[in-house]
Amino acid sequence: MSDAVQGTNRPLTAGDTVGILTPGGDAPGMNAAVRAAAKIALAQGLTVLGIRHGYKGLLDGDVAVLEHRDVDGIGRYGGTVLGSARELRFKTAAGHELAQRRVKELGLEGVLVIGGDGSLTGGRALSRLEAAGGGRLRVVGVPASIDNDVGCSSLAIGVDTAVNTIVAAIDKIADTARAHERTFIVEVMGRDCGYLAMVAGIASSADVILYRERGYSQPELLAQVEGVVRKAYRPPPAGAGKRMVLIVKAEGVSVPAEAIKEHLDLAVRPEVPGLETRVCVLGHLVRGGAPSAMDRLVAARLANVAIRAIASGQTGTMAAWRPPEGERSAWDPDVALFDLDVVLEETARVRDGTSLVSQKRVQLLSGVEAVLGL
Ligand code: F6P
Repeated sequence: MSDAVQGTNRPLTAGDTVGILTPGGDAPGMNAAVRAAAKIALAQGLTVLGIRHGYKGLLDGDVAVLEHRDVDGIGRYGGTVLGSARELRFKTAAGHELAQRRVKELGLEGVLVIGGDGSLTGGRALSRLEAAGGGRLRVVGVPASIDNDVGCSSLAIGVDTAVNTIVAAIDKIADTARAHERTFIVEVMGRDCGYLAMVAGIASSADVILYRERGYSQPELLAQVEGVVRKAYRPPPAGAGKRMVLIVKAEGVSVPAEAIKEHLDLAVRPEVPGLETRVCVLGHLVRGGAPSAMDRLVAARLANVAIRAIASGQTGTMAAWRPPEGERSAWDPDVALFDLDVVLEETARVRDGTSLVSQKRVQLLSGVEAVLGL
């Protein structure tokens, strides 16, 4: 898709005001995106408003003018300096009306939405409302979610850091697992999407990786795990003679980690006396921490294209990183702009596992499992 897509309004000129917000779950690298967008906008003579706590701040008119000094150096910090919130009011008609009023009061000509599915859905609602009401607000998004479930973008801000955090955590768990000859089930975030478990599982040499897209029934899943654990502890040549087993489980897998543990203790202990299984849910640990260099760079480059798209008058789009298809932006050869409708439809498919992207991920994992004999 070219840089001149979807509802185009007049380009912004010096003195116009743009807002930046980071709604929904924070992701490492959001600050690098805020920094880049603010600096590029300021260089064009625009006034930049940081909107606090996502759509909540928009509804409450809770904003702060951002100058260069406000964003200097923030790219190295995790979380979001703007704050975030999951704002239910924004999903209602009254909320939409209030948001439009605030847009006028604040003199906003453009809004950059940095976030995941819910945040971008909010961005689309805002751009549609404005267009329908004769408003001219330009809304462009940047994908940011550790889950890597935003459609059309091969990577979202925060994913690389989250994968590295998980691998570092599993490496530590492996030390204690080996010392005690234990089996560990490590559950990682990702909501419905198994990407983090898949990628971090491979990188941390997990013995089993459990992800929802595989479509296992509970008995199938338990049988697979049981089979791998039995084989792992059996002495060679029948088994691998291992001293520990690592199971990485995606949050979206509906079988609880504790149920898997109980099953293993019951089913495998007769053959492996003393078998001990522990569960470790990494939870929000995975969302924090300083962003990796990769996340900082991807964030800055996506934000660059998005803010330039806003300044050129575009609305209702999202900047995507190295998409499988789509015409790349003239502002960056690795970034393409997609209609938010297209992005959100594909996001739904990634989340329910019907996307080609999800199927390719499953294929890749099955290939790895086949090589490892799992
Ligand atoms: O979408 C990011 C994410 O961290 C998911 O991986 C997780 O399921 C969810 O947000 C947790 O949300 P909350 O921080 O509201 O508990």
